[in-house]
Amino acid sequence: MEFSVKSGSPEKQRSACIVVGVYEPRRLSPIGEQLDKISDGYISNLLRRGDLEGKPGQVLLLHHVPNVLSERVLLVGCGKERELDDKQYKQIISKTINTLNDTGSMEAVCFLTEQHVKGRDTYWKVRQAVETTQDCLYTFNQLKSKKTDLRRPLRKIVFNVPTRRELTIGETAIEHGLAIASGAKLCKDVANMPPNICNPRYLGEQAKTLEAFNNVSVDLIGEKEMEELGMHSYLAVGRGSVNESVMSVIHYKGGSEDQAPIIFVGKGLTFDSGGISLKPGEGMDEMKYDMGGAAGVIGLMRSLVEMQLPINVIGILAGCENMPSSNAYRPGDILTTMSGQTVEVLNTDAEGRLVLCDALTYVEKFEPEIVIDVATLTGACIVALGAHATGLLSSHNPLAHDLLKAGEQSGDRAWQLPLWDDYQDQLDSPFADFTNLGGRAAGTITAACFLSKFTKKYNWAHLDIAGTAWKSGKNKGATGRPVPMLTQYLLNRIEVSDAQQD
Ligand code: BES
Ligand code: MN
Ligand code: ZN
Repeated sequence: MEFSVKSGSPEKQRSACIVVGVYEPRRLSPIGEQLDKISDGYISNLLRRGDLEGKPGQVLLLHHVPNVLSERVLLVGCGKERELDDKQYKQIISKTINTLNDTGSMEAVCFLTEQHVKGRDTYWKVRQAVETTQDCLYTFNQLKSKKTDLRRPLRKIVFNVPTRRELTIGETAIEHGLAIASGAKLCKDVANMPPNICNPRYLGEQAKTLEAFNNVSVDLIGEKEMEELGMHSYLAVGRGSVNESVMSVIHYKGGSEDQAPIIFVGKGLTFDSGGISLKPGEGMDEMKYDMGGAAGVIGLMRSLVEMQLPINVIGILAGCENMPSSNAYRPGDILTTMSGQTVEVLNTDAEGRLVLCDALTYVEKFEPEIVIDVATLTGACIVALGAHATGLLSSHNPLAHDLLKAGEQSGDRAWQLPLWDDYQDQLDSPFADFTNLGGRAAGTITAACFLSKFTKKYNWAHLDIAGTAWKSGKNKGATGRPVPMLTQYLLNRIEVSDAQQD
């Protein structure tokens, strides 16, 4: 899809379709009024007759409106004026895109970006419109034997901004929106890929594709090297699988040589059967998404390298498969982690933390400024927050604050849970330094407590994306989250350092 911005009045547009908002009840937006005027009241007449109430997401397509140069006018309901919020805005954009595709317009000029959205500016409206459009158009059909040819005539969308002054802002918004959408697409593609194709090695191959961009280099660490590094906890989880564990390390050097990197570590369980503590059968297919953290990290790296931001970032994909087998690790095993701390395994299904802990120790050698891990870590997080918010736990308050803010800005939100010391003793073990299981109470927090034992040497935050990485049910599929939040976090860091230089 091609996007651009323009600032101009609707009657001058010669396009296949112009898209304008209608407020509830049956009230034209200022842009709509301009069109109405030149068409001698054609549109207001229709509204008066009750053809469109203006409820959010309602649409009415008009052909050959008198004196209007464009072939079609698409009226889109925007609800009550000044009540339009983030959720409704995304809804009206999706509805617009789907309608345009259904009706055969090749291009469109969209005025919805001039609509008032509560607390949001032009940059936000244009960027969200780009991200929402790309999300709407996403399909994962490469593994269908017959590709149903979706008729997708729409090629080009022009978003209107209120003043010429805002054109540059609009252009930046498109550029950022496209980079985020492209990262989210890679995240979705990798996550949706079935586990017989997407194994830890495949994650590594996907990481390698980023080397086509400037300032990127990728190292793959296999089991032999993990052995040498003493990553026995990580190795134990993958031991029951014939697919070798592979940790991908993606380096992006956009900043100066001496700048400490920001590191993202993604849980990459390409399939989590539970291992010897086998999961129940129902819905087990969805455990192909247990690499959602790694998918989020590779997606973030993709957005970042497309934008070539002036910072140093390392993305780690902790690829592994958790399977039952005669050489699989078992409940009762005591593992020595790379940090030297020992863990008593009480449940082989609490495997994510066992993989992540060694990856989190491994990254110490890069002397990072900040480390953020991303993981589909606990079912308990879905119980606590559902599918709307990512769980956030952090040992460093300013970092937690920055991530929450990035979530609000990008519309890809997180909610913080406490990481108090009070929870730590749920991990006490009679035989090892601690166990990998915290019991039924506060499962998301005790999982983070486990990780916190390995992250003392840097500022750290943990994102539990168990509820947000994919959707179940009829519209099953990866969401591309938390790529928007994390990209926003990096964009904010650049802005702050720019401001400090000024
Ligand atoms: N990958 C799962 C968590 C999960 C489950 C995410 C369902 C999304 C949907 C994780 O490895 C796991 O199995 N966690 C256990 C932990 C328990 C054994 C302490 C869980 O949540 O039940
Ligand atoms: Mn598990
Ligand atoms: Zn898991």
